[in-house]
Amino acid sequence: MDHGSSHDDEVLGKAFDLRLMRRLVRFLVPYRGLFSVCVLLILVLTGIQSGLPYISKIAIDRFLTLPWAIVTVESAPGSGAPIPLGDDRYLVEISSLSPELRKEWEISGVLSPTRYLFVEEDSDKEGIALEHPDLFAPIAGGYIASESALRSLSPSETLSLRSGAIAGLIRLSILFAIALIVRFVFGVSQVYLLQLTGQKVMYDMRREIFGHVLRLPLSYFDRAPVGRLVTRVTNDVAAINEMFTSMLVNLFRDAFLIFAVMGIMFHLEWRVALVILALFPLIVIAAFEFRRRARAAYREVRRQIARLNAYLQESISGMRIVQLFVQEVKANERFAKINIDKYKASMRQLLTFAVFRPLMSFLSSFAVAIVIWYGGLNVLRGSLSLGALTAFIQYVRMLFEPILELSQGYNILQGAMAAAERIFILLDEPEEDRGGGEAIEEVEGRIEFRNVWFAYNDEEWILKDVSFTVEPGERVAIVGPTGSGKTTIIRLLLRMYPLQKGEILLDGVPIERLDLGFLRSRMAVVLQDVFLFSGDIMDNIRLRAEIPEEEAIEAARFANADFVEDLPDGYRTEVKERGVTLSVGERQLLSFARAVAFKPEILVLDEATASIDSQTESLIQRSLTKIMEDRTSIVIAHRLSTIREADKIIVLHKGKVVEEGTHTELLARGGLYAALHRLQFAELGGGTDPAPPSPSFSEG
Ligand SMILES: Nc1ncnc2c1ncn2[C@@H]1O[C@H](COP(=O)(O)OP(=O)(O)O)[C@@H](O)[C@H]1O
Ligand SMILES: [Mg+2]
Repeated sequence: MDHGSSHDDEVLGKAFDLRLMRRLVRFLVPYRGLFSVCVLLILVLTGIQSGLPYISKIAIDRFLTLPWAIVTVESAPGSGAPIPLGDDRYLVEISSLSPELRKEWEISGVLSPTRYLFVEEDSDKEGIALEHPDLFAPIAGGYIASESALRSLSPSETLSLRSGAIAGLIRLSILFAIALIVRFVFGVSQVYLLQLTGQKVMYDMRREIFGHVLRLPLSYFDRAPVGRLVTRVTNDVAAINEMFTSMLVNLFRDAFLIFAVMGIMFHLEWRVALVILALFPLIVIAAFEFRRRARAAYREVRRQIARLNAYLQESISGMRIVQLFVQEVKANERFAKINIDKYKASMRQLLTFAVFRPLMSFLSSFAVAIVIWYGGLNVLRGSLSLGALTAFIQYVRMLFEPILELSQGYNILQGAMAAAERIFILLDEPEEDRGGGEAIEEVEGRIEFRNVWFAYNDEEWILKDVSFTVEPGERVAIVGPTGSGKTTIIRLLLRMYPLQKGEILLDGVPIERLDLGFLRSRMAVVLQDVFLFSGDIMDNIRLRAEIPEEEAIEAARFANADFVEDLPDGYRTEVKERGVTLSVGERQLLSFARAVAFKPEILVLDEATASIDSQTESLIQRSLTKIMEDRTSIVIAHRLSTIREADKIIVLHKGKVVEEGTHTELLARGGLYAALHRLQFAELGGGTDPAPPSPSFSEG
């Protein structure tokens, strides 16, 4: 038993594989319109996001700081309406200056860091200025007061002096609110449209994968555990969806945000921006190291989850055996071991994340500290406005968020790539060869094996030069010890595997030339364990909806499966848990009914009667005799009655036909058949049926 049975689930490779990406994008193509709208919305959203701190910068610089400054230059400054103060000094409105001129003045230090309020002569605010001659200095055309002077005024006086700024603040607040509303509406639409796209893509993927699985050769299912295929359709598809809907979009948004924010920062004050940029390598190294550790931890967690799942699946489906063989303690110990490994792996992963997040938060605060120090210095020097400094602080925080997200998205990307890889391996699995497409008009039911050699693996011959013929309407029994190749013969007849040498003919036509669907629809196969699907009994008999209900009921009666009529809901009784509520015999009768309903020319039974209790025995025997009448049948059985009534018995040993003949002929020969027969029936005094379940000719 291999509890790491989903080994391929652990193999994680590159986080980005162009070849896989290209194949994945194919699934997006039908929804490119929707997806483009999403990307567009994201761009708008990021624009708004990076614009918000700028609004606060304007609020501070334009309306919360006094608008006028004194500049000391020889000639009158070029822009705005400077008011000469004498001694080469001018009063200028900061917002009227061109950015270049302002920068130049700031650097050369001719612009005073102190800001002033200017009250025009004859304006409605002049009264306040006149009332406080100690605070307001008269100049040509009005009065000016410094910020510190204004603090001595009463609040109501300050507010009325600054009514223009208040109006401006209100305008900015409205702008801010509108931006928030737009961001909300666009944000909701973006998430909705993106999820819609993701769900559509997942729907298509699941359909394609399942459609492909339906067309895989039966031999594929020998190799692939059921759980693994289920995972392909569910988990792996979900991992890819996660990448499309969160990771890819984050990548877009984050990259765009980083560029936008860096751009704005350089525009505000390139020296401060440069200092922040210098911190980048530190952040990237931290993120990179985290990524490395997270990857290892993630891989380990996946491996442990796979082990846990496999063990649980196996022990729960085998619970009957576990309990009947009193293996509870052992099973529990084993589970405890696996469980603790999973716990440890998860803890290691959580620890990695636990350190990384605070570390990034520390680095981001550190960057803010640098901005406060270095930016503050620039504010004092006059080269950075107060508003720009506050915007800077917000931008630094904004810059760290995407880096954090990007490195966390790495796992998603890697998981998705691995999932994609597994899905494409499955999708690349060659589909079953449907055959030459020929059909036979009227199937008589003559089967011939002509020198058939077959091996599941390379040259390990399971069937060696097997030849035999079954004439139309004939009833042939195949007997032989377990592992002699009986089931293999049937698999080859149904073309579940291609053969290496020799030929199998149906009515003289090699079966490879026949259409696969045609071939299989001509034969009804009844296996030892009957598989019942969820649904009611009627659905299970018909399988294909085209068979009319009356015919199905007729088939059930013909196959002696009329016990169904005594069930509370008759043919509409729901099959629960694959039919556990029905007895083995009842299930077997249903499978006969299923075979009869399909009206096949050929009936194939593989140990179909092996595990039936003696009560149902005679019922089944009678049913079988009826079904096999006028029909070519190949029966692998150990019930003596079935074998004895056969027109021909083929004795198989280690993949070779060793004897062939009727019951009496073979007994008289005293060969392997006679020996097997003696072994089974010695104590029963020469072959009275029913036979005990074992020893038997075969224990498949
Ligand atoms: N899918 C498979 N892959 C590889 N070997 C197989 C497979 N199925 C059966 N075998 C091997 O082929 C041999 C014949 O098996 P089978 O035809 O089932 O025997 P029987 O039905 O007579 O008991 C056995 O040795 C078995 O181990
Ligand atoms: Mg078998």
